[in-house]
Amino acid sequence: MVEDVNNLWPELKWINDASLREKTAGTWELALSRSVLCPADLERIPFTLLCGPDLKVSFMAHKRCVVHIARECGEKMNLFFGADLPVNMDVLISGAILADVGKLLEYELDGNGKAIQGKYGQYIRHPFSGVSIAEECGVPAEVCHIIASHAQEGDLVKRSTEAYIVHHADFMTFLPFKSRLT
Ligand SMILES: [Fe+2]
Repeated sequence: MVEDVNNLWPELKWINDASLREKTAGTWELALSRSVLCPADLERIPFTLLCGPDLKVSFMAHKRCVVHIARECGEKMNLFFGADLPVNMDVLISGAILADVGKLLEYELDGNGKAIQGKYGQYIRHPFSGVSIAEECGVPAEVCHIIASHAQEGDLVKRSTEAYIVHHADFMTFLPFKSRLT
């Protein structure tokens, strides 16, 4: 399972703090152990169930893209704004890697191997299940905050700078698939 997670997430290497890196990887390991999905499914299933049956972009392609965008945003903000708006890069990258980890508990597979939202996922959306599983693995509050607030539920709370970045990286790569002009 450790190897599976390292293969899925080469971006874990970007987290400098060894303890946070291990807790981030450990959360994915625990989620995989409780999921009906295996690592190969994550490279195959669409990243969202909300964009119709023709969406081909995989779960991992989208999640990794969000992490790459978030990292570049954080670096640029640190470069241009410095101490006026400091971005904690370890917190940002860990939060981006973990934002959708709860989705592993949302899905069930139907008879044809197609991912569908299960009953648990309908009641407990992935921002909530993600925080639950991350806290079990000792992930600190500033990272759990990113998981909790990355989606629309987070519009109701005051987001940290790192949470704003992950939220926008996620939505800018989701909304055009859902609806766009051309
Ligand atoms: Fe999400």
